[in-house]
Amino acid sequence: MKLIDGQVIAAAVSSAVTEKAASLKNSGVTPTLSIVVPTDDEGSAWYVRSLARAAKKAGIECRIDQMTGASRAEIESRLDVLSADPSVHGIMCQTPLPHGVVLGDVGQHIGPRKDVDGANPLSLGRLAAGLAAFVPATAAAVLEILHRENVPLAGARAVVVGRSTVVGKPAALLLLAEHATVTVCHSRTKDLAEVCRQAEVLVVAVGRPAFVGKAHVAPGAVVVDVGTNSTSDGRLVGDVDQSSLQDLPVSLTPVPGGVGPVTTALLLRHVVEAAAPSLKDRA
Ligand SMILES: NC(=O)c1ccc[n+]([C@@H]2O[C@H](COP(=O)([O-])OP(=O)(O)OC[C@H]3O[C@@H](n4cnc5c(N)ncnc54)[C@H](OP(=O)(O)O)[C@@H]3O)[C@@H](O)[C@H]2O)c1
Repeated sequence: MKLIDGQVIAAAVSSAVTEKAASLKNSGVTPTLSIVVPTDDEGSAWYVRSLARAAKKAGIECRIDQMTGASRAEIESRLDVLSADPSVHGIMCQTPLPHGVVLGDVGQHIGPRKDVDGANPLSLGRLAAGLAAFVPATAAAVLEILHRENVPLAGARAVVVGRSTVVGKPAALLLLAEHATVTVCHSRTKDLAEVCRQAEVLVVAVGRPAFVGKAHVAPGAVVVDVGTNSTSDGRLVGDVDQSSLQDLPVSLTPVPGGVGPVTTALLLRHVVEAAAPSLKDRA
């Protein structure tokens, strides 16, 4: 088994982002990301802190709106204000959201040109229609990894396990746009292992530790593990049982150190793209 190093890919993306941010600054634009945080969830706070650190390192200003306990109306009104603020180029709304509030609803209050994590359903619709759009950074990270690893996608059999709006669906659409033959699996899929074994590219985004193992993976497959699960002893593990693939001729993104760092780097790339005046063709 070959492990694909997400840190190396993230470093290459980040270095281009840092360069672009510096050139924007030279032309008088400070690329700026605003993150609305309507939760006091510990994992979420950790992610926001690490994003803010990475942004600072890349020369991107990061503003955090801590809105613990905010109502749906308050979150939407804050997102409206940020969408109209010319000094803000990218906007994210951090999850988990308050009980009963859905990202697809509040996401509609993020202007599509600033929707750097693809939370506005318009962005997903534009992606489905083949138009320029920001896609969720995690789904974009899956494709970035496959491209950087020179994995042939045109005509390849790709299987995506998971059909969420933030990962599975956009990843499937991006693979389709690369001319892969895409199968999307979910909780009602029959004979999951057999379907997965057909895959030359297998993307797993379920949210269950060790959900995918040897029985799901064909020799030669490239496996992208999107899952992030905390174990009872505080470790972070993916959805793929890495040890079961040890002796197979396959490639795998590890967790941690695979999709995660590339996701952060791509989110920041989206911010500099949103800050670049040449991108006026987005919705
Ligand atoms: N690395 C990153 O940057 C990053 C970012 C986002 C998410 N994640 C991680 O990625 C994982 C997935 O996230 P998500 O937001 O997409 O999760 P989600 O919204 O809970 O979706 C999980 C998907 O898995 C499917 N599923 C559940 N049980 C299944 C089964 N037995 N067989 C086949 N499919 C099954 C579900 O099917 P149904 O639709 O039928 O219910 C659903 O489509 C999580 O671990 C999350 O933490 C990582």
